[in-house]
Amino acid sequence: MSSLPVRNQRAVIESAAVKALSELTVTVNRSLGGGLRLLTLKVPSEDASVLEHVHAGRFVMLRCDEAEPFKFRRPFSFASVNAQAGTFDIYYKVVGDQTRKLADIAPGTHLSGVLPLGSGFTIPPPDTPAILIGGGVGVAPLLLLATELVAAGRPRPRLLFGGRTSTDLTLEYVSGFPVEVHPATDDGSHGFHGNVVELAALEGVAKDVYVYACGPVPMLKSLVEMLPQAVSIEASLEEVMACGIGACYGCAVRTDGLGAESMRLVCRDGPVFDLRQIRLEE
Ligand SMILES: Cc1cc2nc3c(=O)[nH]c(=O)nc-3n(C[C@H](O)[C@H](O)[C@H](O)COP(=O)(O)OP(=O)(O)OC[C@H]3O[C@@H](n4cnc5c(N)ncnc54)[C@H](O)[C@@H]3O)c2cc1C
Ligand code: FES
Repeated sequence: MSSLPVRNQRAVIESAAVKALSELTVTVNRSLGGGLRLLTLKVPSEDASVLEHVHAGRFVMLRCDEAEPFKFRRPFSFASVNAQAGTFDIYYKVVGDQTRKLADIAPGTHLSGVLPLGSGFTIPPPDTPAILIGGGVGVAPLLLLATELVAAGRPRPRLLFGGRTSTDLTLEYVSGFPVEVHPATDDGSHGFHGNVVELAALEGVAKDVYVYACGPVPMLKSLVEMLPQAVSIEASLEEVMACGIGACYGCAVRTDGLGAESMRLVCRDGPVFDLRQIRLEE
C-alpha cells in the first residue's frame, strides 16, 4: 500500500469542485421511522454553485456534532439535491456514536462538511434499461440516480428495495422519487418474502441491463454471482472512512490486479466501482 502515490490533502479539498464549508444550515432533521432519518442542509448562497457538482454516488464528509471537532467526519451519500433552494438531503440511519449525535441536531444549527467527494454513477446509453437494487439505507444514492436518469429522458427505473422488515423500507419517503418500487423483506412483513437478490432472480434481469446497487457486502457479493449476464454492475461501496480525501488509506479495497496496482481507495477512486472488478471482503 505504501507505493500508492501520496495525495496532497489540500489539493483535493481546494480542487475547483470540492469545498470545505463550515456553515451548512440544518433546515430539516426528522425521523422517517425504523431508526432512519432525513436531514436537509442548506448551503450558503455564495457557495451554492457547489451543488452543480453533486451527482448520484458522490458523497459529503459531514461533521455530525460541532461540539466534537476531533471526531472524524462521516461519509453520507446525496439522496437528493435542490439547486434552486440551495439544499441537499441525506437519508441516514442511526447506527453508532456520530449518527446518534446527528439525530439530536436541531434545525438552525450549522454543521461543517466537505463536498462533493468521490465519483458518481454513469448514465447508461440510451435504450439500455437500468435497474436499481438497494439494501436498507443503501438506497440513498440510488434515489438521486433515479432522479438523474429521469431528468436525462430515461423511463422511471425499477427499484428493487430490500430490508429486514417493513420499517426498514420507509416507502412513503421513497414514493417521492421517480422509481417503480419492488419491495422485499427478510421477514415477509412487506412485499416479496426474501432478500432483494432473490427478488432480482425471480423477476429476471435482461442481459442488456445496467445494474446499479448499494447495500451490505453479502448482498453485493450475491448480486455478482446471480447476474453474470448484466452488461454492467456499478455499486457504491460503504467502507469505513477517516479522511474521505485519499490521505489516510483507511478505505483501500482490492481489485483483481496484482500488488500495489490492485489497490483502490473507496473515497478517492470510488465510491462507485464496477463491482465485478472489486474483491469484496466481509
Ligand atoms: C461513500 C459512503 C456513503 C454513505 N452514505 C450513507 C448514507 O447515505 N446514509 C447512511 O446512513 N450511511 C451512509 N454511509 C455509512 C455512514 O457513513 C456510517 O453509518 C456512519 O459513518 C456511522 O457513524 P457512527 O459514528 O454513527 O457509527 P460508528 O460508531 O462509527 O459505527 C457503528 C457501526 O456501523 C459500522 N459502520 C461505520 N461506518 C460504516 C460504513 N461506512 N459502512 C458500513 N458500516 C459502517 C461500524 O463498523 C459499527 O459496526 C455511507 C458510507 C460511505 C463510505
Ligand atoms: S478515507 Fe482516508 S484514504 Fe479514503
